[in-house]
Amino acid sequence: MNLLITGASVIPMTDGAVLADTDIAVSDGKIAAIGEIPQGMTFDRTIDGRGFVVMPALINTHVHSPMGFLRGCGEGLPLQRWLNEKVFPAEDKLTEQDMYTLTLLGIAEMVSTGTGLFNDMYFFTHKSAEAVIDAKTRACLTYCATDIGNNVEDITTLRAVQNNRRLFADYHGYDDDRIRVSVSPHAIYTCSERLLRFCAEEAARLDTFVYTHLSETVGENADCLTARGVTPTAYLNNIGFFDVPATLAHCVHLSDEDRAILAEHGASVATCPESNLKLGSGICEADKLFANGINVAIGTDGASSNNNLNMFEEMHLFSLLLKGVRQDASLLSPEQVLQCATINGARAMGLAHRTGTLEVGKDADLILVDTQKPHMSPIHNLCSNLVYAAQGSDVHLTMVKGEILYENGQWLTIDVERVKHDTAAICDRIF
Ligand code: NI
Repeated sequence: MNLLITGASVIPMTDGAVLADTDIAVSDGKIAAIGEIPQGMTFDRTIDGRGFVVMPALINTHVHSPMGFLRGCGEGLPLQRWLNEKVFPAEDKLTEQDMYTLTLLGIAEMVSTGTGLFNDMYFFTHKSAEAVIDAKTRACLTYCATDIGNNVEDITTLRAVQNNRRLFADYHGYDDDRIRVSVSPHAIYTCSERLLRFCAEEAARLDTFVYTHLSETVGENADCLTARGVTPTAYLNNIGFFDVPATLAHCVHLSDEDRAILAEHGASVATCPESNLKLGSGICEADKLFANGINVAIGTDGASSNNNLNMFEEMHLFSLLLKGVRQDASLLSPEQVLQCATINGARAMGLAHRTGTLEVGKDADLILVDTQKPHMSPIHNLCSNLVYAAQGSDVHLTMVKGEILYENGQWLTIDVERVKHDTAAICDRIF
């Protein structure tokens, strides 16, 4: 299908420029032209882009997409109690079929707030892959591995390891990278050293990235220092974890040495400001990450600790927190925040050649955001409006690989009423 968007404000995210009154042509799932449209090109549909900004679809670099079923459960608990008392017991009752429904619930929320790619981490992931394919969105998927209290002789017999190998064989690179598969140990406090080493070796074998939670809380750091005499980052470095591309969620409590290690190895950080606030974990020192040249992307974490998957809210908080904590209004330009929520996420997942910017030849993963609402007027600085004034509900259209998934309040690939109904039934059974 060929589609033309006319007369829009376009932010390609290649250099922070805003192109006024610009046309974009989409052909066979890819961006065919920006600005000058080749003569003779014909279109199945033309969208009047006046009053909208067109930008790359947002990228949620750390999420557990099916966790919406826990939205509002365990309020007021710190991370470890929240996990042990609320999350793990409820997750034990999930079935494989539940995961299809719950992933769709997460995707529905994400596409309606402008997210076209997410870096997921959960289990029964084959069902999440089916949901991604049916909803026609894009994701990095993985079976999250843990082995504490599960002393298997041979790591490769762990169910999560076997399942992830199957997932990789079945879906890695599926439909021109609609799906990619990573290797994901949950965290240093739920995985043995043996498993962590194995995951890095496995990622090297499969030529993909490792993906884990790192230094989310002071307690995690303190326990690691007590048990091993080093920080979590130094511990992982000592066992070769960063010898492969790594994407690390949270990184709230890093030392200067930790940041130097991550910078040296080219690791990416997925900061999750809202989840870190809600669980009382702290505030990521993103300015120091930037100063070290580390690739910083943004995630929502699961809806259970956020409590939504709205990347616009995440962008606001990310920027405001840093300015407030440092008492420095000059930190983080709006363009820099938008980069973190787009191209930096693509880099963190090895997908920068496909998505994250609007460039001819890249996949048409883009959103239209309404700029005609009172809170978006006037437009002195469009990037500033997007980061500080816009709401997720201002997203008018979300397109992935040239296909429209959401437009004008309607989901075109997901039966949302059905998904909400089925989610309620799952919750009736579990709680
Ligand atoms: Ni998480």
